Amino acid sequence: MGAYILNRARDPNVRCETVTEARVSMIDALELIEQRTQKNPWSAQSLGECFSDSYRTAVLFVGGDPQGFAVIYNTRFTTDLLSIGVDPMYQGRGYGRFLLRCILQEALAAGADECFLEVRVSNARAISLYKSFGFENAGLRKGYYGASSAGPAEDAYTMVLHDIRKSPGLAGAADA
Ligand SMILES: CC(C)(COP(=O)(O)OP(=O)(O)OC[C@H]1O[C@@H](n2cnc3c(N)ncnc32)[C@H](O)[C@@H]1OP(=O)(O)O)[C@@H](O)C(=O)NCCC(=O)NCCS
Repeated sequence: MGAYILNRARDPNVRCETVTEARVSMIDALELIEQRTQKNPWSAQSLGECFSDSYRTAVLFVGGDPQGFAVIYNTRFTTDLLSIGVDPMYQGRGYGRFLLRCILQEALAAGADECFLEVRVSNARAISLYKSFGFENAGLRKGYYGASSAGPAEDAYTMVLHDIRKSPGLAGAADA
């Protein structure tokens, strides 16, 4: 099976799917979202690797089209949130929250208890989202994000959610 529905939002046009096959059309769509959302976007090749063992990729579909995605990398009891982004046209509507909930549910299903991530120290929007899910600051990585055409090098906070099951972001219904 190439994909399965992980969760539906209250709006029937919005759903989150775990995609397990690296189809070219899907990689192209994710590459576009990546370029529109990230300062150091992943290449198509890197995105292709997100469909191999130990990775899980959840795609947010709005009206049938991919408009966001999140990627985790699982080790035995731990998962790393490697990327999350919602197309700028659809930000601020609760879809990022929905997507994070979906990918954390996927991490739980894969056996992870704990989730780590890195986030730019300037990314107040993402930090606020992560804190609302119970993520805590766990350290600072100097110059973690290299300089690019989008700007100079930047530090990252490492954040951790110690018990995914107890995340306030997973409480209640799965609506966006
Ligand atoms: C971070 C991101 C995924 C959030 O997605 P989104 O759909 O815009 O977020 P939502 O509408 O679901 O809002 C979720 C929470 O984010 C925070 N947030 C959203 N917009 C915000 C803003 N303008 N200012 C501050 N916080 C904001 C809030 O905590 C919000 O929760 P609330 O509405 O209950 O207060 C999205 O902004 C994005 O793709 N950004 C670019 C890529 C990126 O920075 N990824 C994270 C890399 S670590």
